[in-house]
Amino acid sequence: MSFDRSLKIAPSILSADFANFGQEIEAIEAQGCDWVHVDVMDGHFVPNLTFGPPLCKAIRKHIDTVMDVHLMIAPVDPYIDAFAEAGADILTAHLESGPHIHRTLQAIRGAGCKAGLALNPGTGVEDIDYLLDMVDLVCVMTVNPGFGGQKFIHSQIDKVKKLRAMIGDRPVHIEIDGGVTPQTAPLLVEAGADVLVAGSAVFKGGSVDNPAPYGDNMRAIRAATETLRAA
Ligand code: DX5
Ligand code: ZN
Repeated sequence: MSFDRSLKIAPSILSADFANFGQEIEAIEAQGCDWVHVDVMDGHFVPNLTFGPPLCKAIRKHIDTVMDVHLMIAPVDPYIDAFAEAGADILTAHLESGPHIHRTLQAIRGAGCKAGLALNPGTGVEDIDYLLDMVDLVCVMTVNPGFGGQKFIHSQIDKVKKLRAMIGDRPVHIEIDGGVTPQTAPLLVEAGADVLVAGSAVFKGGSVDNPAPYGDNMRAIRAATETLRAA
């Protein structure tokens, strides 16, 4: 995985057909996604349950791009090796998941993955100064984590701007997760984001038998950000 700040769209398979992950992933990749975002929830750190390392391992063989695993679990450390062995390229842990996020990020890189740090909407950027040199990605949650299809929280745009300034020329992605649509995407890219996770906005209107809407939906997000750049 080489680093660049070009816009990347990472569909969240939380909005895919759970009975058909392999084909859904192949469909979004054929339709032009950049990364595949995998939401792991434990029913404890967030009020929803999804899946664990065996599912990640099973879908890995259908992913040709980047497997971006978002861990909404606490604790994180006991599961890092299992997700790394399942084939995650990026493992993102929440700052709020425990008292030893520095150790967690070290362990993620130690397991051979890129390290991501996610921030809940209520968390400021003040506490991450000493973490920026040990991460490859910061994920700004623009909804409270747990569910797809929630309303975008506009106050987070200011956080993205602050974060972009803090990151400077470090090779650290700014990923946005939650409520990304053609309406919100330009604001986020303008503020400094380069990876946009989108669940409902990518999967709406399509299916494995009719995947063209997935491509249309991703192009609509991209086009919205390009209009802004051209303006
Ligand atoms: C929320 C997840 C997101 C979610 C985004 O906890 O981390 O990845 O699937 O869904 P949308 O794009 O529908 O807000
Ligand atoms: Zn996510």
